[in-house]
Amino acid sequence: DWTPEHTLETLTAEIRAKVGRERVLLAVSGGVDSSTLALLLHRAIGDQLTAVFVDHGLLRLGERQEVEQALRPLGPALRVVEASEQFLGALKGVVDPEQKRKVVGREFVRVFEREARALEAQGCRWLAQGTLYPDVIESAGGGAGSANIKSHHNVGGLPPDLRFELLEPFRYLFKDEVRELALLLGLPEPIRRRHPFPGPGLAIRILGEVTPERLEVLRRADDIFISALREWNLYDQVSQAAAILTPLQSVGVVGDERSYGYVLALRAVTTVDFMTADWARLPLEFLDEVARRITRQVPEIGRVVYDITSKPPATIEWE
Ligand code: XMP
Repeated sequence: DWTPEHTLETLTAEIRAKVGRERVLLAVSGGVDSSTLALLLHRAIGDQLTAVFVDHGLLRLGERQEVEQALRPLGPALRVVEASEQFLGALKGVVDPEQKRKVVGREFVRVFEREARALEAQGCRWLAQGTLYPDVIESAGGGAGSANIKSHHNVGGLPPDLRFELLEPFRYLFKDEVRELALLLGLPEPIRRRHPFPGPGLAIRILGEVTPERLEVLRRADDIFISALREWNLYDQVSQAAAILTPLQSVGVVGDERSYGYVLALRAVTTVDFMTADWARLPLEFLDEVARRITRQVPEIGRVVYDITSKPPATIEWE
């Protein structure tokens, strides 16, 4: 019968049979799929695996540490590449959302290409990806935008002279099955249940220019929101949640003085397929508590609003 244990053994055997004694490169994003794949590959082929995690400086608070912690079993097979300066430099002055995506995608390929070339020179032939069955269907069907949306994580843009064979052990699995594997492989709970997070990260949750100061403000506010969702046991009841920093400033009062702070939007949605989504009816007492915490702990923010628009017509992200 078809148990997660059975799937685990089958995939392990398949991977071993396919790659033999050769080396495998994997890009990990911090999401469930690539993290689970990292643990699976490591179980199957040990240090023939190199997993590369690019810190583009657009991650949530503590996210990098969480990934490092979760993938500690990999030991030196995990390479964390610190590239914040490169990404933030490239994003300077960029305000258009699509342009931000392009820049992040381009820099990601640059960083990853460096790693890939070094490995290729050492005879590495395989590039592993956490492609799931629905992704396979979608790219075969052509129509839907999400294959393209996810392009930079799926490392489509590597130069043609880098010849890797693709290894996609999850291409017949659904997300739930990957989550079951993750449990068997000991992937920690916060990553196993994590909401999706876009490849361009916080860059598309800061409307207008991305600066280190704005990133810092958004990171703190976002962390308060997400931590509160967990604390109130609401995290698993929504499909995705985000704080969005607008470039708007509004007037307020702090003590006896007028203040002038950023407008921050909170967004939480429920959805099955992310193609349509409903705004989440979070309890008002919860929203009240979050708004208080954010304005108290992040003085740069003067006003907190909650997005009550569904998709369509609004997208989940604001950019
Ligand atoms: P939208 O905003 O289009 O988002 O309703 C649908 C889902 O896709 C995610 N998303 C992205 N993921 N790169 C990604 O990897 C992107 O550029 C991107 N844009 C949106 C979004 O977070 C949501 O889960």
